[in-house]
Amino acid sequence: MNAPVAIDAVSLLRWYAANGRHALPWRSTTDPYTVLVSEVMLQQTQVDRVLPKYHQFLTAFPTFAALAEAPLAEVIRCWQGLGYNRRAVNLHRIARVAAERGGLPADPAELRRLPGIGVYTAAAIASFAHGRDVAMVDTNIRRVLGRALLGDAAPTDAAARRLAAPRLPPGRGRDWNLALMDLGAMVCTARAPACSACPLAQSCVWNAAAPRALREFRAPYRPAERFVGSRRYYRGRIVDALRALSPGASLSLAVLGPAARPDYDDAQEPWLADLLAALARDGLVTLDEQGVQLP
Ligand code: ADE
Repeated sequence: MNAPVAIDAVSLLRWYAANGRHALPWRSTTDPYTVLVSEVMLQQTQVDRVLPKYHQFLTAFPTFAALAEAPLAEVIRCWQGLGYNRRAVNLHRIARVAAERGGLPADPAELRRLPGIGVYTAAAIASFAHGRDVAMVDTNIRRVLGRALLGDAAPTDAAARRLAAPRLPPGRGRDWNLALMDLGAMVCTARAPACSACPLAQSCVWNAAAPRALREFRAPYRPAERFVGSRRYYRGRIVDALRALSPGASLSLAVLGPAARPDYDDAQEPWLADLLAALARDGLVTLDEQGVQLP
């Protein structure tokens, strides 16, 4: 299939101006610290769950300097409810680097050297904080570009990046990225795309090629892989148990084991020790003679 060369930028940006999620608080700032915090939170957590934690985190740690000076245990405690706790450790590390250097780099390749910053987050910081015309590809953008240009709702990330970069309108990168993101979240959704409300419908390959039945087909809800009982689940339970302690206190393995899983017995000690070693490597816990504690 021949991919059309363009996306109707005028229609897309007009749609975004009228319908975009402009009220999201991280959209009204270009402060690199604030943009970093929001993007790291949004990497793996839904907007609705991020909103209250975003405000709470920025109140507790309003600047790179404040975050860099805070004890890591306090940062991990503040991360409660967001999951993927390693992100808190990474943010703390980045804050120390940024406080020392006087800010974040604007170049995506340099941003990617920071812990926990992948291609997407580097592009987001370059675009939203530094105003660079850098094309971003997240799950929503990938689906929109794939459908509109290839007729494929699930191209690879690399294929989507090849579609995105040459089409970004110079000087409008920020709004372009946000428009594609919102179109994917609000109109060109995975399960029930609303093609009749889409500013790209006229030239969309998927809209032209997919029979009406397919366009109106609601993909069945696919539950996420079973989380309860997974390694990540128990990692979270362990960090939660440590968060509940007063600052500086620790737990012995004999107490931590049953706190993390109700069916814990001595036979599971190697399992617990293995999880704790991994958490220690990630900087989320420390182990000593007293037991286990937040760092
Ligand atoms: N606005 C800016 N970045 C965003 C993101 N990653 N998800 C949703 N809205 C955003």
